[in-house]
Amino acid sequence: MTLTADTPEIRETLIERMKSVFGDDSRRIDHAMAVLGHAESILADSPGVCGLVVRAAAILHDIGIQAAERKHGSSSGKYQETEGPPIAREILESMNIDAGAIDHICRIVANHHSARDIDTPEFRIIWDADWLVNIPDEYDISDSKSISELINKVFKTPTGRTIAQELFFERNE
Ligand SMILES: [Fe+2]
Repeated sequence: MTLTADTPEIRETLIERMKSVFGDDSRRIDHAMAVLGHAESILADSPGVCGLVVRAAAILHDIGIQAAERKHGSSSGKYQETEGPPIAREILESMNIDAGAIDHICRIVANHHSARDIDTPEFRIIWDADWLVNIPDEYDISDSKSISELINKVFKTPTGRTIAQELFFERNE
């Protein structure tokens, strides 16, 4: 039997599995939880999107980062994108998640830095949620003009863009 439902139990199990991979790396755990929070806000405004794929991809999107650092001495997006999917797949297969959902989640993990080979509604939510968390970490949000340009350029969902404007732009007006 495969688990296709988007249940609180699957969400909790995925969080536990993510935490056990990241161990004492609380920064990575906090990042994954923050991305999950934004992804769920966008999901609530996105009828017809697969909640299981969105939640699992949000929780697991950076799961290859420590393997990338261990094997390649680098956490660059390129290595994360190759190291992440096998780890995500092992976790998801051990939970009997539907094979089609696993493939979709792994494709999101494999593209979350480059957006090269995928453009599904579920992917766009993860893309936007990751940007919502990364912008204040990587950019000067007091620079309203650049932030406004960045928001117009990077966001792929209307809800993600609106949340970004509320968080980083209108507050600076
Ligand atoms: Fe991320």
